[in-house]
Amino acid sequence: MALIQLDNVSKVFSSRKVDVEAVRGFSLSIRKGEVVTLVGASGCGKTTVLNMVAGFIAPTSGKVFLEGEPVSRVEPRCGMIFQSYALFPWLTVRENVEFGPKVNGISRKTRKDLARNYIEMVGLTGFADSYPGELSGGMRQRVALCRALANKPDILLCDEPFAALDAMTRQVMQQELLNIVSRSGQTVFFITHSIDEALILSDRVVVMSARPGQVKAVYDIDLSRPRKIDVQLTDEYLKIKRKIWDLVEEEVKASMNM
Ligand SMILES: Nc1ncnc2c1ncn2[C@@H]1O[C@H](COP(=O)(O)OP(=O)(O)OP(=O)(O)O)[C@@H](O)[C@H]1O
Ligand SMILES: [Mg+2]
Repeated sequence: MALIQLDNVSKVFSSRKVDVEAVRGFSLSIRKGEVVTLVGASGCGKTTVLNMVAGFIAPTSGKVFLEGEPVSRVEPRCGMIFQSYALFPWLTVRENVEFGPKVNGISRKTRKDLARNYIEMVGLTGFADSYPGELSGGMRQRVALCRALANKPDILLCDEPFAALDAMTRQVMQQELLNIVSRSGQTVFFITHSIDEALILSDRVVVMSARPGQVKAVYDIDLSRPRKIDVQLTDEYLKIKRKIWDLVEEEVKASMNM
């Protein structure tokens, strides 16, 4: 059975002035342990899809299922890394990371160890007692990743979590994420604007059409794992990258009426 299933899901945002049809007839199944990325033009409805899986917003029509049960509230099995970090500004880095485990009643000692490990993993050991306002954008993104991981959710929903990182840090973080989820068996649904990032991380890449977002194509990425950066020089990689690139480009142009 699919862990996540979106079944003909549509979302219209209605206000007094306009209706915005963000997502239309979106169907996708994700198995446990899969890493699936969503790529598509800005504004095509990617964040909206993730928000419906997490239960933050309800579809206008269609249904989202987790392990066969319809999502009807904010889903505790999902951990979200938001596009805009969403850290608590009044808590330090360490307190932000410990927040979820604390709410879940994890002992003080265990959550301290958890936080220390994740903070070290993302290279922020010297900043554990800093506040988010004292960090750069990329550092905040790394804290947001730690905070989501510390809850050990079954499903990690990642909304462009590495967008503000420099190229080298981004590569390191991609590898760390893969190491963690390959050990834990967690399922990852990941949004990115980088086709290279999608290809390094994914078992499958879903290309969305311009808004209203639909599934335009789904590609199985059969490149062997672990994927090191030099996979990017192989013919197989370049071939699939070209295909995805062409499709995304078409949709970006459509979304900008070019
Ligand atoms: N809460 C909301 N109220 C009204 N309209 C919304 C809301 N959230 C999203 N939208 C609209 O839905 C469409 C899709 O937005 P969404 O944030 O899902 O796009 P996206 O693919 O994540 O874009 P980006 O790549 O720029 O993050 C946009 O036209 C946006 O204006
Ligand atoms: Mg978005």
